[in-house]
Amino acid sequence: MTVVLTIIISLTLSCFPSAIHACDEVDANSLLSFASSMSSSPSLNWSNSIDCCLWEGITCNSDLNRVTRLWLPSRGLHGPVAPSLANVNHLTHLNLSRNSLFGSLPSGFFSSLNNLQIIDFSYNDLSGKLPSSSSSSSHLENVNLSRNRMGGDIPSWFLKDAWNLTSFSVSSNQFTGVIPSHLWINSSRSIQFLDFSVNYFRGEIPQGLGSCLNLKVFRAGSNSLTGSLPRDLYKSASIEELSVPQNQLSGPIGEAIANVTNLRIVDLSVNGFTGPIPAETGKLYNLQQLCLQNNRLSGSLPSSLMDCTNLILLNVRSNSLLGDLSNFNFSNLVRLGVLDLGYNDFSGNFPQSLLSCKSLTAIRLSANRIAGHIPPKISQLQSLSFMAISGSNLLNIAATFTSLRGCRNLTAIILSQNFIGESMPEIDMTVDSRGFQNLELLALGRCQLQGQIPAWLAKLGNLRVLDLSQNRLTGQIPPWFSSLPYLFYIDLSSNLLSGPFPKQLTLLPALSGEAGNILSLSPLVLPIFVMPDKSTMRLFNGRRVLPPAIYLDSNGLSGSIPVEIGRLKCLNVLSLSRNNFSGSIPDEIAQVTNLERLDLSSNSLTGKIPASLIGLHFLSYFSVAFNDLDGEIPFRGQLDTFPSASFEGNPKLCSSILQHPCFTQEENDATGPEHAPEPEVAPEPEDIIVGLAAGISFGFIIGSTYGFFYMDNFRRFIAWFTKFF
Ligand SMILES: *[C@@H]1O[C@H](CO)[C@@H](O)[C@H](O)[C@H]1NC(C)=O
Ligand SMILES: *[C@@H]1O[C@H](CO)[C@@H](O)[C@H](O)[C@H]1NC(C)=O
Ligand SMILES: *[C@@H]1O[C@H](CO)[C@@H](O)[C@H](O)[C@H]1NC(C)=O
Ligand SMILES: *[C@@H]1O[C@H](CO)[C@@H](O)[C@H](O)[C@H]1NC(C)=O
Ligand SMILES: *[C@@H]1O[C@H](CO)[C@@H](O)[C@H](O)[C@H]1NC(C)=O
Ligand SMILES: *[C@@H]1O[C@H](CO)[C@@H](O)[C@H](O)[C@H]1NC(C)=O
Ligand SMILES: *[C@@H]1O[C@H](CO)[C@@H](O)[C@H](O)[C@H]1NC(C)=O
Ligand SMILES: *[C@@H]1O[C@H](CO)[C@@H](O)[C@H](O)[C@H]1NC(C)=O
Ligand SMILES: *[C@@H]1O[C@H](CO)[C@@H](O)[C@H](O)[C@H]1NC(C)=O
Repeated sequence: MTVVLTIIISLTLSCFPSAIHACDEVDANSLLSFASSMSSSPSLNWSNSIDCCLWEGITCNSDLNRVTRLWLPSRGLHGPVAPSLANVNHLTHLNLSRNSLFGSLPSGFFSSLNNLQIIDFSYNDLSGKLPSSSSSSSHLENVNLSRNRMGGDIPSWFLKDAWNLTSFSVSSNQFTGVIPSHLWINSSRSIQFLDFSVNYFRGEIPQGLGSCLNLKVFRAGSNSLTGSLPRDLYKSASIEELSVPQNQLSGPIGEAIANVTNLRIVDLSVNGFTGPIPAETGKLYNLQQLCLQNNRLSGSLPSSLMDCTNLILLNVRSNSLLGDLSNFNFSNLVRLGVLDLGYNDFSGNFPQSLLSCKSLTAIRLSANRIAGHIPPKISQLQSLSFMAISGSNLLNIAATFTSLRGCRNLTAIILSQNFIGESMPEIDMTVDSRGFQNLELLALGRCQLQGQIPAWLAKLGNLRVLDLSQNRLTGQIPPWFSSLPYLFYIDLSSNLLSGPFPKQLTLLPALSGEAGNILSLSPLVLPIFVMPDKSTMRLFNGRRVLPPAIYLDSNGLSGSIPVEIGRLKCLNVLSLSRNNFSGSIPDEIAQVTNLERLDLSSNSLTGKIPASLIGLHFLSYFSVAFNDLDGEIPFRGQLDTFPSASFEGNPKLCSSILQHPCFTQEENDATGPEHAPEPEVAPEPEDIIVGLAAGISFGFIIGSTYGFFYMDNFRRFIAWFTKFF
């Protein structure tokens, strides 16, 4: 056979002396036809005049000069996958990952290319179903179709003969039906890696995984899987990663999980698992990540967990776990980097033993019943960058900040709803401008703190987000805010502040667009979910983040709104309601072109509504209710779309939408302002959201929405809660 082939090839060569090592003609033509249907930049050096075995990305076998490898990842290919590719049937390695291929795979693709061992089409834009055919290559080892838009069921013939399949990934597509368990029947000796994440798979996780002798990774997160974890999975001696977050899985986790001794990563988060965290979990000596957040787990944290000395990430937030945290000895968890115990029912003091976990970068204990003091030695945690213990019973804010300032890497401090009724520390907490120099987010809302806005905040040169809402702060808004170059979110609402809207506030560099628009936080170690108001549900710089905002509502501020307000070009939210601002609404507000929410209600504003406001195209919430405005409502553009409640309580305003037409003004004046309702506070849209959330019984929903709302990841709430990292 070999002899015959050699003769044929040498005959071919002698007929075409110009192409001494010419590759197979069918291969060359098929590849050219494949390339002609797409663009690439820079263009490929594929040309008929050159031996195709020398083309970029092509490898031939040396004996037959057949093309065996097509390896062009990240090569800027743009176009459909031409059917001619299926003729290159000695291909064993195909890697077209990270291009812009679109359309569906040609029919018969897998059965024609029956020598394929590796196929990588990941990170393209392929769509359609898997190509129909009754068989597919038995040599396939590595199949990666992740990050495309392919859909339909995975048929039972697909890869059924792939005896050597080691790795199969279809993550981030639109596949439907059940998880194809036939894949690992014939490949139970070879399969190591299975990734079905982020599709529309439903039904239960099939049995049989426990028989896969070399399975290391099983991922199926973000699907619609139901039922409990298959018991035979617990027989696996090989599995290292089990990640099935964001499904509707239920039932207990089960003590037998301790048999899976090689587990390093367990992610069962955002499901409906019930019962306790198995007491035997501590036997999982290799465990590095345990993510059980957002389930319905109960009971206490098993003390055996403290034996998992390789733990790096422990997240059990939003469950119904209880127990006195001070009883745990965390000292052995020397590698622990992230600890999230928030939104449970833990009690006790801040555990002293945590101070031995020198690798900690993030701690969240929020919304438990943690009491007492944060230990002064917290400053031993030099890597700590995220600290959230809101909604607890912490005492002594001054001592807390004196201790925390030693944690030089802190970027986020969230201690809202603690220290009730204490005084805002006045002494300089930054000590020689060295403390808190990395701090970007400071949240101290709902603490009923007395005193004034402390002057040392002016030294927090990296501050971006400040929430001091719902305290009892008095005095004026200090002018130095404008010296903080990155500050873009200020919430001082519901305090006892007096005096004017300081003109200096209009010089905030981030909001006036002078700081190069740095309007987001550095990536946080743990996510935070905040209550949005209607205006904030949009993508900002490609990411959902906090809106650039100034909330000053519900204080005792007075004087006029400065005309310089027009400088705050980047501002999305301006909320000044329930103060005593007077004078007219400055025309210049119309220059705040990104404004989405403007609330001037319940003040003493007079004069006309500036006609220029109709140019605020992004405005989605607007209210001037309960002032003393007069004249005609500019009836065009965006203003046209707001309900009469936005204007009520201004007896001298006229417009057809107020049933108070301008041409009958004299008559109405004669009969008195019978349309003026009592100046009562209109329900805010946020209250509706609180009502909804509370109705679904989140025990930990605390306080109103003017403060930060430290809600946690709950999938169905993502639509309601703006997330920022
Ligand atoms: C085609 O391009 C590849 C990669 O740039 C190069 O290695 C190869 O030598 C080129 N072939 C010819 C015939 O120029
Ligand atoms: C395909 O190429 C990319 C880029 O070089 C590489 O990261 C990936 O591992 C390759 N795929 C396979 C299956 O080897
Ligand atoms: C599977 O792998 C083994 C060992 O590498 C090899 O001998 C066998 O031919 C392969 N089977 C198939 C169907 O490719
Ligand atoms: C596709 O998945 C395989 C198997 O996990 C992996 O080796 C390969 O690197 C992946 N490709 C890319 C582009 O990440
Ligand atoms: C396993 O391979 C055999 C032989 O090719 C085939 O008949 C059978 O359908 C395969 N089993 C599964 C579950 O795919
Ligand atoms: C776990 O291991 C124990 C002891 O080897 C054994 O008795 C038990 O049956 C195992 N459980 C499962 C579900 O395999
Ligand atoms: C906690 O564990 C460490 C290390 O095992 C030990 O030295 C220390 O005494 C323990 N602390 C308490 C309070 O039991
Ligand atoms: C503090 O943060 C910086 C920047 O993220 C990092 O390089 C450094 O290692 C951190 N320091 C400690 C002690 O973790
Ligand atoms: C509001 O300000 C006006 C002056 O502009 C003043 O007469 C009035 O007393 C103030 N009202 C309150 C409640 O402070």
